[in-house]
Amino acid sequence: MPDFFALIPAAGSGSRMGDELPKQFLPLAGRPMISHTLRSLCASPRISCVFVVLAPNDGEWMRHDWSEFSGKLIVLECGGATRAESVLNGLKSARVASSISDNDWVLVHDAARPCLGKAQLEKLMDELADDEVGGLLAVPVADTLKRSDTANRVERTESRDKLWQAQTPQMFRYSLLVEALGRTGGIGMTDDASAIEALGLRPRLILSDARNLKVTYPADLALAELILGNL
Ligand code: CTP
Ligand code: MG
Repeated sequence: MPDFFALIPAAGSGSRMGDELPKQFLPLAGRPMISHTLRSLCASPRISCVFVVLAPNDGEWMRHDWSEFSGKLIVLECGGATRAESVLNGLKSARVASSISDNDWVLVHDAARPCLGKAQLEKLMDELADDEVGGLLAVPVADTLKRSDTANRVERTESRDKLWQAQTPQMFRYSLLVEALGRTGGIGMTDDASAIEALGLRPRLILSDARNLKVTYPADLALAELILGNL
């Protein structure tokens, strides 16, 4: 039986957040944001090991106490210039640092999604465990979609039929994900599934909900804190 591993890319700078501190370390409900992300993944007994991918010049990680995750956490300081690079570098280092093998599942999950619920995580693993390709958590688009011109005037309204917002975790077999990211270089891609799609494969969408938001802008912090208090 394949094992489940998780990999958390945490080498971004959080430019849209506009804080000097990379957003994954910003305080959220009294702890660094990434510690909530780690808790959600480390708490699952099905996940044997959680890799965190830091920027090589990270100066923040070591300022905090991570002992509650010892035994399950492996820190890799090999982040790259893009998310895709960080994930690919992390996957390659994980091979050296652990017993992960070709057929094992990897759940790639953004450090900046600290509100992942237990039910969503378990559902993703349950529904994809026998899948040929793998897939991701996602939410059907709820708002009406407008396409703009360069002056921010509505050019037209787009149909939202069959449109989904991709979240993480995104779950694929180790060797397939390494091949996909290696072949495409991840250029212009903001998630892992895009690289799999570029191979001609069709990842499955697993229904999630809006609580698993990605903290991107300052206003998202307050929202994340509210959600964490109600998970
Ligand atoms: N990430 C990474 N390596 C990069 C860029 C992003 O590991 N070179 C990680 C981030 O740390 C984050 C996740 O990928 O956990 C999702 O990326 P995003 O939300 O875009 O974070 P940032 O790139 O840090 O933010 P921004 O795009 O606003 O600069
Ligand atoms: Mg980014």
